Amino acid sequence: TNSRRAGAEAGGCPIHQPGRQQDLAPNGCPISPRAAAFDPFDRPYQLDPAEALRWSREQEPVFYSPRLGYWVVSRYDDIKAIFRDNITFSPSIALEKITPASKEAQAVLERYDYGMNRTLVNEDEPAHMARRRELLEAFSPEALEAHAPMVRRLVREKLDAIVDRGRADLVDEMFWEVPLTVALHFLGVPEEDMEQLRRFSVAHTLNTWGRPSPEQQVEVAEGVGKFWQYSGEVLVKMQRQTRGKGWMYDMIEKNRQKPDVVTDNYLHSMMMAIIVAAHETTALATANAFRQLLSRPAVWDELCDNPELIPAAAEECLRHSGSVVAWRRRATREVAVGGVTIPEDGKILMVTASGNHDPSHFENPDELDIYRDNAVDHLTFGYGSHQCMGKNLGRMEMRIFLEEFTRRLPHLELEEQEFTFLPNTSFRGPEALWVRWDPAKNPERQDPAVRTAQRDFAVGAPSRQDIARTMVVAKVQAAADGVLQIALEDPRGRRVPAWSPGSHVDLIMGDYVRKYSLCGETDDPYWLQVAVLREEAGRGGSAWIHEHFEPGMTLRLRGPKNHFRLDESAQHYVLIAGGIGITPIIAMADRLRRLGKSYELHYAGRSRSSMAFIERLERDHGEALQLYPKDEGRRLDLAGLLAEPREATLLYACGPERLLTALEGGTAHWPEGSLHVEHFTAEGALLDPENEHAFEVELTDSELTVEVPPERTLLQVLRTAGIDVPSDCEEGLCGSCQVEVVEGEVDHRDKVLTAAERASQDRLMSCCSRARGRKLVLAL
Ligand code: HEM
Ligand code: FES
Repeated sequence: TNSRRAGAEAGGCPIHQPGRQQDLAPNGCPISPRAAAFDPFDRPYQLDPAEALRWSREQEPVFYSPRLGYWVVSRYDDIKAIFRDNITFSPSIALEKITPASKEAQAVLERYDYGMNRTLVNEDEPAHMARRRELLEAFSPEALEAHAPMVRRLVREKLDAIVDRGRADLVDEMFWEVPLTVALHFLGVPEEDMEQLRRFSVAHTLNTWGRPSPEQQVEVAEGVGKFWQYSGEVLVKMQRQTRGKGWMYDMIEKNRQKPDVVTDNYLHSMMMAIIVAAHETTALATANAFRQLLSRPAVWDELCDNPELIPAAAEECLRHSGSVVAWRRRATREVAVGGVTIPEDGKILMVTASGNHDPSHFENPDELDIYRDNAVDHLTFGYGSHQCMGKNLGRMEMRIFLEEFTRRLPHLELEEQEFTFLPNTSFRGPEALWVRWDPAKNPERQDPAVRTAQRDFAVGAPSRQDIARTMVVAKVQAAADGVLQIALEDPRGRRVPAWSPGSHVDLIMGDYVRKYSLCGETDDPYWLQVAVLREEAGRGGSAWIHEHFEPGMTLRLRGPKNHFRLDESAQHYVLIAGGIGITPIIAMADRLRRLGKSYELHYAGRSRSSMAFIERLERDHGEALQLYPKDEGRRLDLAGLLAEPREATLLYACGPERLLTALEGGTAHWPEGSLHVEHFTAEGALLDPENEHAFEVELTDSELTVEVPPERTLLQVLRTAGIDVPSDCEEGLCGSCQVEVVEGEVDHRDKVLTAAERASQDRLMSCCSRARGRKLVLAL
């Protein structure tokens, strides 16, 4: 106790109340009343773990729970740091019984010779990675692609069975059975007695993550013992087969070839654990997703109208209401997490559901936003070297469920109901999900083709490229010779997404995708406005817009996104626009005026009649404005303007590449980072395999090494290896695919990093940049 007291007095302890008698945690720090009262088996956590830990996220992000005997971690960054370091934080307790078995239960388990031990998820290094590497093949995009028709067929059969009924409990009808059948197919395990397997899974979950009462303990142990026995029998049966297909057969084969890597006990333990890992997770995730989406009818309708959004929506549901809400690690040495010292052997419960609602990583974290562009960063699949191997199979199943239902039963409604959950710390989803619909309104009664129409989403994390919304053209008017100003609005009259000066949108019109800067008022809640110059020498997109756009027409839009952000901290601004490049610049000028900043605006063009917004500029920015219509003999004198570098001044420019190149040259003697330009094309970023060389990339968090061949980008290779890196433009313009470089010299190809950032060699844009030499080491 002496050393404990010393710890408490040493400070750094936010909870310590001098002069009060407080219970102490194992690190000597006093336990706060809330930490003392925390119990994951209480109602609040069982109903909504993220909400139940809000206080912790906000005030005490790492605390010791005496009721559980665990250190609870609730913030995103702390959880990710733990996942990253699987040596300091061992996964060995991931499948340990969180409530120790009673004597009677222990006896039951012994009778069944229960010997569940290490699998993958709870194996330490180096054994784990050696095994995982041997077993990766079944999860390659091509291998998974091959399972999609089977998933589709199963979902369709189940849906056929209820489509004319009008009411169903989807959990009971299909959310359990389909993922279980898919899992068995994937593993190669014969489909026998599915009901029994479902009971086994429940017993396994309660046994591992639950708190069964003493009487229940015996019953649960019976179930677990039988499950263990059954797994052993199935395994023996499979081992006798010579040419079986499925992931378990891969393991059996590796067990024959490398029995020291893929061990006998591993096979038996894995057989039991994987049946649960591969189906219960997906079943619960699907139920959570349908519950969340159907309880927001506007969001559900939007998904029915925009099925391209399904991958993004499924991902957002995994973030907002994941099926795995907490995961465990053990500290192998004394270590500080979020400023709190966790002693050696301390057991840690990372509440990933809480991390997924951490406002420091996710904006408006409690909102279900199917347009959220970093949903893929969620922790529901874990992270790092143990990250869920089956995530892309789970994603595929959720997407196919959503796709079939939004197409065939868009009028589906959630019934009023009380949801119940199997009481445990980690696996979460409603035990039943009652829905209803009017079969007379089933679209397939009008058009039988609806039943089988389908789209196939690419395997893997959703791409931001898929996150597009439908908009309606509200107004089209001439803004200058050859320039149309276009206002877009939401088809349901809702507010348009917020944007900042410098933002652009991608307009998607059939095969054409074009980027346009937003040029309306940033505080206009109902319109997004762009100005489009008809470019005779262009690729046809702008001509198409000029010929076809008219009020009432719908189109798809990505964004707004901002790759050209205005730094509001400078004292003075020089804004430079050439021709149609005025569009982002006018929004910046509006903002600077509102902020009361000092700025000047230089605007060059062919002639007044071809220069958009002159009236608005003269009205709002008269004193700051200099116009340079070429036909009036006025030329922008860049050399003169840039001759003297100015302190605390930032330049923002948009216009023809010629102008931007001249600016880059002309500001070489200005302080680093003074010039900001908007590029709309990334010439040079595209890959020319003839002139590239292959290189090797070592990933420290995932403990993988991959080879990037001349004809593929680093980002593509990472995706294929199952590493989810957010991306957006995929041409070096936006910065979203940035990854941290640990070692190696980078051949930077992006337009995002400044010269100083490049020189530091500590980050790169994975969509376009490559290795100068033969190898890079990345913190991924
Ligand atoms: C590991 C969640 C579906 C196979 C994990 C982990 C989590 C998880 C949280 C531990 C990650 C860590 O320690 O960093 C989920 C969720 C799923 C899902 C939420 C569905 C929505 C699947 C499927 C399969 C699968 C369908 C198999 C086909 C595995 C395996 C591991 C794992 C083999 C262990 C990986 C290792 O330790 O190297 N999963 N899982 N999972 N999952 Fe999943
Ligand atoms: Fe935009 Fe790589 S995805 S820079």
